[in-house]
Amino acid sequence: MRSATTAARAAAAVSAERLQALFHSISEVGAYGRAADGRHGCERLAFSEEAHIAHQLFAEAARETGLTVRRDRIGNTFARLGPADRETAPVLTGSHLDTVAAGGCFDGAAGVVCSLEAVRAVSLAFRESGAALPRPLEVVAWANEEGARFPPAMMGSAVYAGSLPIEAALSATDSEGISVRDALAARAPGEGTQPLLPPASYLELHIEQGVELEAAGVPVAVVDGVQAQLAGDWRMIGREAHAGATPMERRRDALLGAAALITEVSGIAHAHPPGVATVGKSVAFPGSRNTVPGLVEATIDLRHPEERAVRTMAADFIRAGEACAAQCGLSFEFTERWRSPRVTFSPHLVDLCSRAADAAGIPALRLFSAAGHDAVNLAPITPAAMLFVPSTGGVSHHPEEFTEMNALVQGARVLSATLALLLG
Ligand code: HGY
Ligand code: MN
Ligand code: MN
Repeated sequence: MRSATTAARAAAAVSAERLQALFHSISEVGAYGRAADGRHGCERLAFSEEAHIAHQLFAEAARETGLTVRRDRIGNTFARLGPADRETAPVLTGSHLDTVAAGGCFDGAAGVVCSLEAVRAVSLAFRESGAALPRPLEVVAWANEEGARFPPAMMGSAVYAGSLPIEAALSATDSEGISVRDALAARAPGEGTQPLLPPASYLELHIEQGVELEAAGVPVAVVDGVQAQLAGDWRMIGREAHAGATPMERRRDALLGAAALITEVSGIAHAHPPGVATVGKSVAFPGSRNTVPGLVEATIDLRHPEERAVRTMAADFIRAGEACAAQCGLSFEFTERWRSPRVTFSPHLVDLCSRAADAAGIPALRLFSAAGHDAVNLAPITPAAMLFVPSTGGVSHHPEEFTEMNALVQGARVLSATLALLLG
């Protein structure tokens, strides 16, 4: 029974004040669009000055909590409590600090802040019960989870888990041709250290980015899996021409073909419920008012709980692209950028999270994640599970993204109790 008692004590040791103070200081980095009530968005694109500052703030807070900090070669920041030996695998918990363009303050940062506070709380609970931590605890701030500037998404955790070669990651470039290698070197020169050992398990707290928890009036969810995803880039290629002197029948208007394809995307999703499909970015070149666009470069993001359905949606999309191109005298190119499978988390760890919520006296739902997370990359190398806290109105990837501080505290309490049961 000690572990249930220690779990309850670990939950109670979470400090709302510390959690709120660190969350607030990180939220001020990349803040924009402040409303009258003080709420605002956050923009911290991966490997930007803002993302670097946020990692620094996390590192400082971790050092002040007595953790030792290191950064690996792709810019993941690790903060460890306990010996950095190579014999004992740590329990790892964390999330990311980068955001999408024009993003919110809670996506990623909520998890990093709650993880640091949960580790502090569980170590306090063990100390008060006179027990030593049986293994190190490590908090991580993953680099480039969003992939918003440098594809692929979940880059830092993929390099850590060995599913993405470091050289491929460092060579990725943004729309201005800047590489990850150069962006990293500009801010954090130095090689970074190699990872020590695969973790004994991985836990990630994240905002839900959906409406289930709010609708149910429940503060926490235990997450048992993540849907499959495929991300691609595509191009419609025509020919620039004079907007005034070129008759309609002689045009090869790339934007006309792209528009036709984009209107087919929602139909592709509706043909495979509950699949979703998004063209998040499309750029017409050369982009002058009096030139018929000769090229459109765009993205596609396909998701579905079943991997087979994602593959079918991708095939439907490519077929539609070729048909729209043929109709408008254009050519169509598609490049897959990354895919992640449907992931089912460790049933044992998911069950432990539920038991921890009980020990902490906090009600918890069971949910499946529609959004992607770094836990997807950790699940193949170690038992992984996630916790969600509510998103007001289900809003995310938007400046009005918001989670009540009390919900963050409750999430951190369940996370701390879970760590205690894991270590117990
Ligand atoms: O795209 C996602 O699901 C996550 O926000 N990276
Ligand atoms: Mn996220
Ligand atoms: Mn996100």
